[in-house]
Amino acid sequence: MAALMARILITSALPYINGVKHLGNLVGSMLPADVHARFQRARGHQVLYVCATDEHGTPAELAAAEAGQDVFTYCEEQHRAQHDVGRAFGLSWDWFGRSSSPQNARLTQHFSEVLEDNGLIEERVDKLVYSIDDHRFLPDRYIEGTCPICGYEKARGDQCDNCNSLLDPIDLKNPYSVVSGSRNLEVRETRHLYLLQTKLQDRIRAWVDSKPHFSGLARSIAYKHLDEGLIDRGITRDLAWGIPVTRNGAPRPGFENKVFYVWFDAPIEYIGATQEWADATGADWQGWWRTDHGADEVRYLQFMGKDNVAFHTVSFPVTILGSGEPWKTVDTLKAFNHLNWQGGKFSTSQRRGVFMDSALEILPPDYWRWYLTANSPEGSDTTFTWEQFSACINRDLADVLGNFVNRILKFCEARFGGVVPDGGEPGPLEEALYADIAAKLAEVTEQFEAIEMRKNAQALRGLWVLGNEYLQVAAPWTAIKTDVDRAAVIVRTAINLVGLYARVSAPVIPFTSETISQALGETWPPAWPTSDVRAELSRIKPGRAFTTPPVLFKKIEDSDIAAWSERFGGG
Ligand code: MF3
Ligand code: ZN
Repeated sequence: MAALMARILITSALPYINGVKHLGNLVGSMLPADVHARFQRARGHQVLYVCATDEHGTPAELAAAEAGQDVFTYCEEQHRAQHDVGRAFGLSWDWFGRSSSPQNARLTQHFSEVLEDNGLIEERVDKLVYSIDDHRFLPDRYIEGTCPICGYEKARGDQCDNCNSLLDPIDLKNPYSVVSGSRNLEVRETRHLYLLQTKLQDRIRAWVDSKPHFSGLARSIAYKHLDEGLIDRGITRDLAWGIPVTRNGAPRPGFENKVFYVWFDAPIEYIGATQEWADATGADWQGWWRTDHGADEVRYLQFMGKDNVAFHTVSFPVTILGSGEPWKTVDTLKAFNHLNWQGGKFSTSQRRGVFMDSALEILPPDYWRWYLTANSPEGSDTTFTWEQFSACINRDLADVLGNFVNRILKFCEARFGGVVPDGGEPGPLEEALYADIAAKLAEVTEQFEAIEMRKNAQALRGLWVLGNEYLQVAAPWTAIKTDVDRAAVIVRTAINLVGLYARVSAPVIPFTSETISQALGETWPPAWPTSDVRAELSRIKPGRAFTTPPVLFKKIEDSDIAAWSERFGGG
């Protein structure tokens, strides 16, 4: 196996710092990345999964102001909160960094300088809204007013939340400062750095053409932007919080009160976070990112929601390719549609929907991980409803998996004293089972490999169902009355199935898998099973003592749905 070992780099879009994320964020980035990372580790590959909080920009400053904190303290606290809740969800990051790290500042400044050396950055004079009372410019979300397109009165400077149009702050009608509410505004000139994306239009198209493993959604969004034509992009802002703008390693004259735009430095933090990890652990980062250090052998996968695709297929590649340096670029880009909250959208600013912390207050992480995987918004947007959620949990986890595990372990405990029984030889029923399991296991493996979340869950469920069907037909509770050896074979086979399920379900429901594995005295974390199903289903030998874990999944009742609908709204 060692010869086949690959190095796999995985990143999920960096969650914005302004508060714990909702299920819609989780389902389209961190969760599928984690499932894939766990799967590939079990396959024996060397995996590096890095993520980080995305900490700069106006939303961070505004959220800090709202919380009555300075932005530095705010980011520190929120980073810790997101780290802790991510771990509680089982997200197996090798590193969870911060885009405000010194590593990212150095890299960002480095990229801007080489891009400028390569003629891809220039200074331009912009006209921006200045607040006379606040003594400052009002970029992006610092200004609100009436949308020039739909008339919505609380449109933000960069985007209208009502009609989703991207806006230019100077086009807002009746604008006011979000800092003070002041309408005493004027348009002033200010200098900014522009990244000349237009110059790389052909390079970027050729680069996208050369990537066969971008998901269909990622591809279509990338080509849409290329077909519309790339535009040059301002990459600095008149703000205090962010990465300072430099030239030749020193503060850039005229840019003392400016910082890089958050979308310029955020994706660079994929590299920054890897450096943070390397600095903290003594590992090497260059082998993951520099093709002159072997990174061309790395398989690099990115996971993100569709809103992020343009930044990862156009803007970040402009940064990386434009540098002319030997950086590793993404091989597989998996993009997701939206998960909507019943009757509307999840909203961070309005705290609408279920957020990662409150989700764990009502149910353990595996319930959510399973539901979100089985209902992943892959083909189209999907909607969360409590009814669908509870039906999914009760059917798949409680009735199919939980019931199978509990039933066979309880039976063995009662009739064979909690020890895997000896005696008998597998017969035709077992032979048929081996064939069915082999086929389903191949399907599970294939769907994990393909990063097809829904099909993955479907195949896993199919694998679990085979266990229940086998027990139904083999009926050890009948066999034991006349033929103890036959009952022993069935029980032994079924307990081995339980062990197999724990191993292959671990990427999606790691906590439950660990509970089962430990109850059976199996090693953790598990290795992926081979295709030799006969051998895999006789791994757990006669004489092995086990404990029966408490009921794995409790059913969701109508009264739960009523209580949660009341608490979270909707339903
Ligand atoms: N914070 C962004 C969002 O929530 C995603 C940033 S991804 C990065 O949409 F790679 F640019 F960091
Ligand atoms: Zn609008």
